Amino acid sequence: MQIVLLGTAAGGGFPQWNCWCPSCRVARSDPRRAAPRTQSSAAVSADGRRWFLLNASPDVRDQLARLPIAPPDGPRHVPVAGVVATDAELDHTLGIVLLREGRRLRLYLTCAVRQVLERDSSILPVTRAFAEVEVIELPPLGGPVPLTYDDGSPSGLTVETFPVPAGPPRFASEELPGHTVGLVLRDTATAGSCAFVPGCGGLDDTLLARLDSVTLALFDGTFWTDDELIRLGIGDRTARQMDHLPISGPGGSLERLGRLRTPRRVYTHINNTNPILVEDSAERAEVERAGLLIGMDGMRFEV
Ligand code: MLT
Ligand code: MN
Ligand code: ZN
Repeated sequence: MQIVLLGTAAGGGFPQWNCWCPSCRVARSDPRRAAPRTQSSAAVSADGRRWFLLNASPDVRDQLARLPIAPPDGPRHVPVAGVVATDAELDHTLGIVLLREGRRLRLYLTCAVRQVLERDSSILPVTRAFAEVEVIELPPLGGPVPLTYDDGSPSGLTVETFPVPAGPPRFASEELPGHTVGLVLRDTATAGSCAFVPGCGGLDDTLLARLDSVTLALFDGTFWTDDELIRLGIGDRTARQMDHLPISGPGGSLERLGRLRTPRRVYTHINNTNPILVEDSAERAEVERAGLLIGMDGMRFEV
């Protein structure tokens, strides 16, 4: 299975259009010291030609242009075989509407995510006005569900879902089980596996054991400290109140993920305020010393 990190920033991207925090300033003035990043999404493929998106970001158009694909035979070519969503947040689902030119879209969603996209953000009804939308339902906990191509043939990849600690999107009219899940993608041919958890408010033993058993773990790297936005005068909620476990400090994700045997552990969904985005920062060095990677747009893995 090939995995491409299409976007590694949290909602708003990096630098964020209205933000002049220290790291956004560096990204504007000296992008060699802090590479700009698009909003979080990844793509997985068994054959390197047909891709399944893990979330569809508002930057999907630019992100697909960077995806490796063989030149097609005809005038139109849709390299996206399906979209698997972890939740219904805007930064993870607005790209669904933007794929409407594809005419046919296959979405893998939990029932709860489907409800929010149907009723609250109207992403599904709007997309349906342009394209045929097929929804394959994912259980909030379980699987494996096979990921299939347009003609119904199996890709050899499967997806498993598990709940992660988080609240529903703030525009959700109901809190239904399965509104936010983590994913494990498996390649049945190679036995390689990849966990994708871009938004997560805590790491209990069950979740750690899951991450410990995969080949590649892509994990929530939104904030460095719990009070990051408060200290910068940007927001009034802590990272934990926003359902993002901070990286640093006691009980932070670095302490816990650093102990795992997972061969590759990578932070993604990194907020523009996070100092790890600056190449020469002490915070970034601390992450690397613990054996974790800091996700960058275009990073590729094979498992
Ligand atoms: C999050 O990661 O917490 C959400 O994407 C927040 C947002 O959409 O503003
Ligand atoms: Mn987000
Ligand atoms: Zn910023």
